[in-house]
Amino acid sequence: MAAAKAFALEGGILMLAARRLDRLNAVAAICRTSGAVCEVMVSDIQEHDQVLHLVNKTIERLGRIDVLVNNAGMGSFAPFQDQSWDLINRTIRTNVDGPLALCHAVIPQMIKQGSGTIVNVSSVVGKRPVPMLAAYSASKFGLWGFSESLRLELRPHGIHVCHFCPTSTATEFQETAGIKSSSRALHGMDSADRVASAMVEAVIKRKREYIMSFTERLLIKFHLMMPASAEWLLNLMRRRGGSSVPTPNTRDI
Ligand SMILES: NC(=O)c1ccc[n+]([C@@H]2O[C@H](COP(=O)([O-])OP(=O)(O)OC[C@H]3O[C@@H](n4cnc5c(N)ncnc54)[C@H](OP(=O)(O)O)[C@@H]3O)[C@@H](O)[C@H]2O)c1
Repeated sequence: MAAAKAFALEGGILMLAARRLDRLNAVAAICRTSGAVCEVMVSDIQEHDQVLHLVNKTIERLGRIDVLVNNAGMGSFAPFQDQSWDLINRTIRTNVDGPLALCHAVIPQMIKQGSGTIVNVSSVVGKRPVPMLAAYSASKFGLWGFSESLRLELRPHGIHVCHFCPTSTATEFQETAGIKSSSRALHGMDSADRVASAMVEAVIKRKREYIMSFTERLLIKFHLMMPASAEWLLNLMRRRGGSSVPTPNTRDI
């Protein structure tokens, strides 16, 4: 909702898509109060035929697509072997198959226009590993590789690709992922509005990558340069936290 509101404030024409029509209508009504033209379409990005329908209808109704924000995502915070195969499969289909299918359907239109921006909403967990989020991590690392490769491929067509990495953000996601946040941890979380403003900034400034926190930028660099030391430190920190078993860390995600 926050992302839709932030883009609506920029005066764009929006097509909002998700599975729950009541939520879509409520968000669209808020967006329209800021003067934006806003349409909605029920779509499950796990289903390829629904993605094609969404993109075709958007082009038919709006005439062009300047910005594609691949924001839909899901995850589950639990040991990998305890997650059902259905849950793991839905995570990959939502976080990887969906964005790839959307890009595949939208890129021909952007090439025709000679311009466009794609924002793939990933996570800091797509840049450095965190235990208990293996399937989610796989999906977001996948989105990172995809974004890096696609950016190089689409540059000659005037199309820009941004890999956008939020840290923990206070949204429904925390609850559906099974992350029990203490009030102290909730305090340290980003607000959805702050993340949404950064997303708009990433589009306007054509950022190739946007990592929401300075500490995360350091941790990611540390992991990339010295992965063994970074793992050792992470394990030490978790042991000092009172357990040898990894515990939910709401600064990750
Ligand atoms: N919140 C965090 O801590 C956090 C941190 C880092 C990265 N992220 C990433 O940020 C993105 C947004 O997350 P959020 O926190 O806003 O999550 P959220 O509150 O759970 O919202 C997810 C949105 O995606 C839609 N969606 C989910 N599955 C879908 C599907 N199969 N087809 C179409 N729409 C679908 C949902 O609407 P419907 O359910 O109505 O379809 C909802 O609007 C995700 O990619 C997530 O991985 C979140």
